[in-house]
Amino acid sequence: MNILVTGVAGFIGSNFVYQYLKDHPGDSLIGFDALTYAGNLDNLSNIPEGEKKRFHFVKGDITDPEQIKATFNRYDIQGVINFAAESHVDRSIHDPAIFLRTNILGTHTLLDAAKTAWLRDGKWKENTTFLQVSTDEVYGALGPDGLFRETTPLDPHSPYSASKAGSDLIVKAYHDTFSMPVVITRCSNNYGPYQFPEKLIPLIITRALDHQSIPVYGDGRQIRDWLYVMDHCRAIDLAFHKGKAGEVYNIGGSNERENIFIVKTILQFLSEMTGDSDINEDLISYVTDRLGHDRRYAIDASKIQRELGWVPETSFEEGIRNTIQWYLVHRNWVKSVISGEYQSFYKKNYG
Ligand code: NAD
Ligand code: TYD
Repeated sequence: MNILVTGVAGFIGSNFVYQYLKDHPGDSLIGFDALTYAGNLDNLSNIPEGEKKRFHFVKGDITDPEQIKATFNRYDIQGVINFAAESHVDRSIHDPAIFLRTNILGTHTLLDAAKTAWLRDGKWKENTTFLQVSTDEVYGALGPDGLFRETTPLDPHSPYSASKAGSDLIVKAYHDTFSMPVVITRCSNNYGPYQFPEKLIPLIITRALDHQSIPVYGDGRQIRDWLYVMDHCRAIDLAFHKGKAGEVYNIGGSNERENIFIVKTILQFLSEMTGDSDINEDLISYVTDRLGHDRRYAIDASKIQRELGWVPETSFEEGIRNTIQWYLVHRNWVKSVISGEYQSFYKKNYG
């Protein structure tokens, strides 16, 4: 089976490729990515020799119908897993337009190409699936209690989450209108290797290693539910192969933490692991809060556990230690990805 996987050069996409090629020796992946600031081909440079012939890379933009059509024509594609997106909330506050273009129009371009390839004489080609990788942020924010369920109404607040909700809705519309075999997954915050250092966890690690201040937005008491990236990738694999068409599956780690707890825990682990006593809580700097900052996210993942048998396997402590270790070994990777465009964005917005 040939699967078109978009956004393969980003954080979750690259982790997915490694795991999928290992777990499915009969399948091939067509990796598709525009290589924006967040995509880096080096992230895919460790595919084992024996698996390389089952991975093909296409540089292309999901908003370009010609490039997508050419990829469908070249490979006999039976599945799409759409990771490609603009993914950072802070950037969506500064420049919303690219989020609408990539996340909504790009998803629609993919859906339409898949429909053209898979729907013949009113019948869908057998064993085809379009999986949309989405986020818990589409549900909005929670107060101190409660969990997001698949039935929770969509109530996004940031341009990022609104654009992801828009993509979910156009995917749902293709199912409801054309009976297209689609599955949507909505996951909580991920962390792990290859995450671009603009997101909280890699930002803490990389800045602390250089003894730079750690910006904590507002009072630092916002809550996120953190999941190790490999657990997310296994859930997507299960939802892609076993999920029911038209269904949504929430994915989360039952691991709610305040941001300030995350910051302090990482500083402590980093200091222990490097023996550097200058890595300590003096690096914490409380800064102006993010506009429209969602207070709390928390996921009820019981549906995917019950129906597809998924369980998270990596404890928070193990996942954080693995992640820190990876960033310690890959300091050159960090230097290469935070050069140029990222530095100017960061300087302009955070000084
Ligand atoms: P990322 O920003 O690290 O990677 C996104 C990838 O998409 C990059 O390789 C980029 O080059 C590519 N891309 C961007 N625009 C493109 C375009 N127009 N055409 C083709 N490729 C394009 O993101 P990530 O953290 O790996 O997230 C992947 C997906 O998972 C996103 O859809 C995101 O919304 C979702 N998600 C992320 C998290 C998280 O915590 N990171 C949680 C839940 C869901
Ligand atoms: P982030 O990693 O951007 O993910 P998301 O906004 O999609 O949840 O941020 C996680 C949390 O950390 C969020 O509450 C914002 C906060 N945060 C900071 O306090 N400082 C930072 O420098 C960043 C990037 C995030």
